[in-house]
Amino acid sequence: MKKAATPDEFKRAMRRFAAGVTVVTTAGRGGRAGLTATAMCSLSADPPRLLVCVNRESAPNRAIAASKRFCVNILGQKHRALALRFAGATGVQGEERFEQGRWGKAATGAPVLEDALASFDCTLAEAIDSGTHTIFVGDVRAAAVAARGSPLVYEGGGFHALAAPKPARTAKKAKSRK
Ligand SMILES: Cc1cc2nc3c(=O)[nH]c(=O)nc-3n(C[C@H](O)[C@H](O)[C@H](O)COP(=O)(O)O)c2cc1C
Repeated sequence: MKKAATPDEFKRAMRRFAAGVTVVTTAGRGGRAGLTATAMCSLSADPPRLLVCVNRESAPNRAIAASKRFCVNILGQKHRALALRFAGATGVQGEERFEQGRWGKAATGAPVLEDALASFDCTLAEAIDSGTHTIFVGDVRAAAVAARGSPLVYEGGGFHALAAPKPARTAKKAKSRK
């Protein structure tokens, strides 16, 4: 048996995993910081906890470790450009990333995206370094949810929308089948 899959093999297979897209933010002495992240996961309901995996080389990693607070913002279809911006695709860093989007301040002080599908304001419970990333475990202090909106999905290296549900059978058609 091979010792391990190569990073390329791993990444190629992982690209098939369809995931919701988030922007994870924080604020501290260095100002605001944030990154686009799909490696987010629910961890515990009572107490409410979640985790995010953030590259150890990234600026937001250092910012979250220092501020000990972060907010996970779940993106909708209308946030594609924002997702690219917070992934570094437009070349802007740190505070400048927040020039796009409607940003407010959550109770912990972390930036919250006001029209996110949902947001989780967290204080840092644990930080575990593993390989290239740090697993940040957050105690969820507040969870907000929008009344409507459709999620942004990432798979195969691109953004997608969930497929529309099949149209319901009309009453007439349903009757004629009896
Ligand atoms: C769809 C998508 C999902 C991403 N998910 C993660 C993730 O879960 N964790 C991570 O560390 N980086 C992830 N990235 C990469 C970061 O968003 C990117 O490296 C970011 O620019 C890091 O911030 P920095 O440029 O300030 O260092 C993702 C990028 C994209 C486009």
